[in-house]
Amino acid sequence: MRLWITGVSGLLGLHTAWEALNRGWEVVGSTFRTDLAHAPFPVFRGDLSDPAVLARAWAWARPQAVINTAALAQVDVCEAQPEMARRLNVELPRALARLAARDRVLLVHISTDAVFDGKRGDYAEFDTPNPLSTYGRTKLEGEYAVLEENPTALVARVNFFGWSLSGQRSLAEWFLNQLAAGRREIPGFSDVWFCPLLANHLARLLFALLERKAWGLYHVVASQCWTKYEFGRALARVFGYDPNAIRPVSVEEAGLVARRAHRLTLRAEKLIQTLGVAPPTPEEGLQAFRFQHRWGYPTQVRAWKGREMHS
Ligand SMILES: NC(=O)c1ccc[n+]([C@@H]2O[C@H](COP(=O)([O-])OP(=O)(O)OC[C@H]3O[C@@H](n4cnc5c(N)ncnc54)[C@H](OP(=O)(O)O)[C@@H]3O)[C@@H](O)[C@H]2O)c1
Repeated sequence: MRLWITGVSGLLGLHTAWEALNRGWEVVGSTFRTDLAHAPFPVFRGDLSDPAVLARAWAWARPQAVINTAALAQVDVCEAQPEMARRLNVELPRALARLAARDRVLLVHISTDAVFDGKRGDYAEFDTPNPLSTYGRTKLEGEYAVLEENPTALVARVNFFGWSLSGQRSLAEWFLNQLAAGRREIPGFSDVWFCPLLANHLARLLFALLERKAWGLYHVVASQCWTKYEFGRALARVFGYDPNAIRPVSVEEAGLVARRAHRLTLRAEKLIQTLGVAPPTPEEGLQAFRFQHRWGYPTQVRAWKGREMHS
């Protein structure tokens, strides 16, 4: 399988590439500006929101399957740059879906739990989304665009954590950095629920769906849901820090730019039925995250970076 991972320098892209290589797949990747000169696969650099660049990248990649992780994924940046959010989160997926349909290439497009307003929680794929932010709205429009252009594409609504190139991208890294710096009173939202998977676990579930040629909308999330406060405490425990260093706070008091939903708990029954196994829990994800740290995994993926690093 020749797999093109867009956004391969991102939090999900990195681990998707690692897991695909482990599976023996041929990987090609693309980034916007990040130089992955030492990655063990070819990397295209360019702005995929430019149709001419996308056409060049498509011809270069010659994929049999694409996992589109490229996005404008920072919620508050999307609020400040709605046009950019639209180009990356709606128009790029639409164009990719069109190319994939034309050339009969398998497409997995990554979406988010943030398409829901989080008032009720426990959402299935057939529940009506109601995003609260520009990020959520553009991601939802991206889902519609992909499935309109290419009804056999797979759209995965996800939430995940893992090791990033910068060491600061994911919530788990944020908690860990605070704990390692000896901070106390580290705020953890006690009124925001989510069901995060370790990025590597998520990548493996995506491959399992790809191999079964699953299509349409899927919730690909952990088997259990926690508050971000509970997640912080569990992470502290797993890494041998004092869980009481995490303090429960409300997201409403955090002064964030974009509105945040409270109960982003997603049901994964459709995934479980298709794969015949339940996805890992956040606790299993954190244990594996700790294990990765022990054997030097973050250092290994960060070594893919070239000298230049713009983002
Ligand atoms: N992170 C989360 O907690 C989370 C939760 C739910 C859903 N998601 C979804 O999961 C997916 C992956 O998110 P992530 O956190 O891994 O993203 P990320 O870390 O922000 O990475 C984004 C990737 O997209 C690339 N990119 C950005 N602008 C581009 C452009 N104009 N042309 C080509 N590539 C471009 C970036 O390349 P450079 O490095 O060169 O800039 C980077 O590789 C997204 O669809 C996101 O909406 C994320």
